[in-house]
Amino acid sequence: MDAPLQNTFVREVETNKSEILKIHQLEVGDVGCVVWDAALVLSKYLETPDFKNGELLKGKEILELGAGTGCVGLVAANMGANALITDLPDFIPLIEMNITENKSLIKGSAKALPLRWGEDTVQDYFHYILLADCIYYEESIEPLVKAIVDHCQENTEVLCCYEERTTGNKPQLQRKFFQLISDNLDVKEVPLDHHDSHFRSEDIHIFKFTRKKSTW
Ligand SMILES: C[S@@+](CC[C@H](N)C(=O)[O-])C[C@H]1O[C@@H](n2cnc3c(N)ncnc32)[C@H](O)[C@@H]1O
Repeated sequence: MDAPLQNTFVREVETNKSEILKIHQLEVGDVGCVVWDAALVLSKYLETPDFKNGELLKGKEILELGAGTGCVGLVAANMGANALITDLPDFIPLIEMNITENKSLIKGSAKALPLRWGEDTVQDYFHYILLADCIYYEESIEPLVKAIVDHCQENTEVLCCYEERTTGNKPQLQRKFFQLISDNLDVKEVPLDHHDSHFRSEDIHIFKFTRKKSTW
């Protein structure tokens, strides 16, 4: 991703409190350069009654994986969470730019950190792990599952939002991901009527993963 950071265009994300986050996206580059629909669906879900309209995130430790622009983590930080926003090293300048751009709206904290799935781990406790549209790469399904499992501790809730795709090898990748995840974690889908009433779509799903309860 060699696109210069000056060639950006802004996606505005308005919160329910009418605050407007400005998320820079790159004109040229890899898929992580723009805000994906799943990121918007997940960001807006954080403001629903399931999260006491965002109140539940105050003071919570959040890890965002495969953050791209950092949109979801920044929305969480706007609601008072301490967000560690991660992606491959190439994306860190864009995430840092977005943290700086939205500084005045961050009520918790936000920090960018390079984290390559399956290779890097952060030794902190996270209340929530957030990921939007990361079930995408054939070569990264196993590392992605490892990254989620490595960081999911007791009482951590993982929120995984993705757009269901029906072309190419995507259905196969999605099946493989859910098979591997359910070998390791409990899996529950968030019903569509719990999603934000405007930012929802039949083909965009949110799943919650938690550590399996010990049976003895
Ligand atoms: C489809 S984009 C989604 C970006 C963002 N979450 C969104 O929804 O707007 C997938 C993201 O996963 C990141 N990614 C891909 N492989 C990765 C890996 N092995 N380790 C960490 N991040 C990775 C990409 O750099 C990209 O930002």
